[in-house]
Amino acid sequence: MAMTIGILTSGGDAPGMNAAIRAATRAAIARGYKVIGIRRGYQGLIEGDMFELGVRDVSDILHRGGTVLCTARSKEFTTQAGLEKAKANCDAAGMDALIVIGGDGTYRGALDLSRYGVKCIGIPGTIDNDIVCTEYTIGFDTAQNTALEMLDKLKDTEMSHHRCSVVEVMGRNAGHIGVNVAAATGAIDCLTVERPFDLDEICDKISEQKEAGKTHFELIVAEGVVHEGFTSDDIAKYIEAKTGVTSRATVLGHVQRGGAPSCYDRVMALKMGYYAVELLANGFKNRIVAVKNNKLVDYDINEALNMQKGYDEKLHSVLRILSI
Ligand code: F6P
Repeated sequence: MAMTIGILTSGGDAPGMNAAIRAATRAAIARGYKVIGIRRGYQGLIEGDMFELGVRDVSDILHRGGTVLCTARSKEFTTQAGLEKAKANCDAAGMDALIVIGGDGTYRGALDLSRYGVKCIGIPGTIDNDIVCTEYTIGFDTAQNTALEMLDKLKDTEMSHHRCSVVEVMGRNAGHIGVNVAAATGAIDCLTVERPFDLDEICDKISEQKEAGKTHFELIVAEGVVHEGFTSDDIAKYIEAKTGVTSRATVLGHVQRGGAPSCYDRVMALKMGYYAVELLANGFKNRIVAVKNNKLVDYDINEALNMQKGYDEKLHSVLRILSI
């Protein structure tokens, strides 16, 4: 049966979103479906900012970071009036189905829209890897490698000056980038929301290691733990005052969201985009594509939103043991 499928990206952009757009677009066209690209996420859907996507419209985007559809966080879409405008635009474009690429907030939007009869499929895209139903989200691999590259550069200067680098990485409510790059760079520890920490204990460890001859240190801070009065800069000052090791804070920020997607992100995005169209072709609706035990699976949106996200506690413990 012929279908018209809309595609949008919503929330923070993530490297690999373009690869997913390309895969979903071409998989749909290959089945004879019409594809509509929606600009600026749900806000664009409300404003009717959309255009037909052809095979060539998604050429040469596979390797590009960001999202060619642009993205937004739409407050209006959380209102009934906004939802009704979006639904009216879906109807006007003859859109039976919508593929949304983003995080849990994006899925909550899809759930709301599905109640108006639009068949929605979610693809996990966020650098934070914090979507509860899936082991992996598009963009995570590239972002953690970008953070790692920056950490390696910081290590050069901290070694030369015998300093401690306090490095804040992204992860609004999640320490997945943090714990991985902390392990990969040999940091003394990582402060995350998932695991309680004691800064005095970390300072004691730095002091002991300094006594034993170690000259430079890294402490990773996952963004979620900082707040007013406890910024990365405050942490660096505290460490310096307690240990005597000159400390500098660096906030990596949005640089982690950019750049060409890694091979892994591209391949995962391609698989997920294709899988999303297969779900629709097979008559499924209101599902989220996810990774479980390294395999693609799908869950009902409601079920997906109510799952629990795991955290690599073991890796966190191991990195602390190895930083002696
Ligand atoms: O969700 C991805 C993310 O980059 C988080 O790590 C970060 O907290 C947030 O988005 C930043 O959002 P914005 O770009 O809207 O400031």
